[in-house]
Amino acid sequence: MLTSACYVVLFILCFVYSYFPTMKMITKISEEVDDMYNAHCHAGSLSRPAIIDSLRKTLQSKSVFEAEQPVCVADFGTADGRASLSLMKEIIEIIKQDCGQEQTIVVCFNDQPTNDFCRLSQVIQGFEQGLRLPAYSNIYPVMIPRTMYEQCLPDNSVDLAISSVATHYLSKRICYIKQGASIAYADENEERLMKEQGKADWRAFVISRGKELKPGGFLITMNISADTKNEKPFSELYGIKHLASFVTDMARDGIITQEEYLATNLCTQEIRTDADFMEPFTSCLTEIQDLGLELVSIKPFKHFLQHQTFDIVQKDDKVKLEYSRQIVAFAYPWMYHVIYEGLSDNRTEEDKQTITDQYFSRIQKYAFDHSDFRPFLNLTEVIIKKTHRN
Ligand SMILES: C[S@@+](CC[C@H](N)C(=O)[O-])C[C@H]1O[C@@H](n2cnc3c(N)ncnc32)[C@H](O)[C@@H]1O
Repeated sequence: MLTSACYVVLFILCFVYSYFPTMKMITKISEEVDDMYNAHCHAGSLSRPAIIDSLRKTLQSKSVFEAEQPVCVADFGTADGRASLSLMKEIIEIIKQDCGQEQTIVVCFNDQPTNDFCRLSQVIQGFEQGLRLPAYSNIYPVMIPRTMYEQCLPDNSVDLAISSVATHYLSKRICYIKQGASIAYADENEERLMKEQGKADWRAFVISRGKELKPGGFLITMNISADTKNEKPFSELYGIKHLASFVTDMARDGIITQEEYLATNLCTQEIRTDADFMEPFTSCLTEIQDLGLELVSIKPFKHFLQHQTFDIVQKDDKVKLEYSRQIVAFAYPWMYHVIYEGLSDNRTEEDKQTITDQYFSRIQKYAFDHSDFRPFLNLTEVIIKKTHRN
């Protein structure tokens, strides 16, 4: 059982933990171009029915003894917490309804140590936007700055773990992509290395969550994944593949150097297939069996990004402009740091900002000129259940 003291110790340990992957997100509330909600239009909420169903199942499976323990829910790769906040509120209300108002609840928000935890703190306390975690005295928010590819909470302590649009980030850079800036442009060897890293990371993610889950607990993830039907996906046109191509253009035009070009490579594996998600189970890993992990379901989603301009067929210039601004809004949160921090330290801050702005201007111009495309994401929901104690 987790006591409050355990959480305090854990929190301190997390701060001194020394793992710092490079990718981070930028979000600023109320600035449309920078709005995390815009990034993928609540892709995580597609999992809402599965999350609520799993929560009810895990609550029903509790014994009388367990009823005295805190119910613990955790969001991995939460960014500023806004994407999961309304869902977390709903989860808390359901726990209170089913287990009683006196039920203690621990709500954990994880991201890598470079995430803006100050902002996360402000978001969950409702400082800036009204929506906040319910203010019951027996609800304990916990922030966990640690890579999700390692165990982040104690054994058998979590009832419900969720994660949305985060597992495509690799835990480390395994190679540079010479002919482009994302896995879509990788040569055979580079793609093999990145897929191997992606395989190791997914295994590590599933095993870490498996250790943390209580028996009867569930892990529900919504992951960016491959285009299995061979349709032209978001990542081809306005997403990672295309976004990366603007960096290539800037290198070709002499705006950034070859070193900067390589430094802006994306460390992501966004082309996992169902077989990749099933791999820890189909490979019969002993850890998976020892932890009593069961693959409940794998479900693909084609998720159309939402904005009124995407539905307008005949666009005039005003609508095209708005459309192109929205496309930039989707790209900005995850591409800003990739570009800015890939630029040489020899450059002035002003120079870096100008080049980064130019990158987003190029995206906007392209989107304006190709505004007939309705962007979508290929996603895969994976649900895993833990059957027994480790
Ligand atoms: C696209 S955002 C998704 C944020 C949020 N879950 C949502 O649905 O909007 C991906 C998040 O994963 C985080 N992330 C990437 N690698 C991570 C790691 N190794 N451990 C924890 N979080 C990580 C990033 O920092 C980022 O906040």
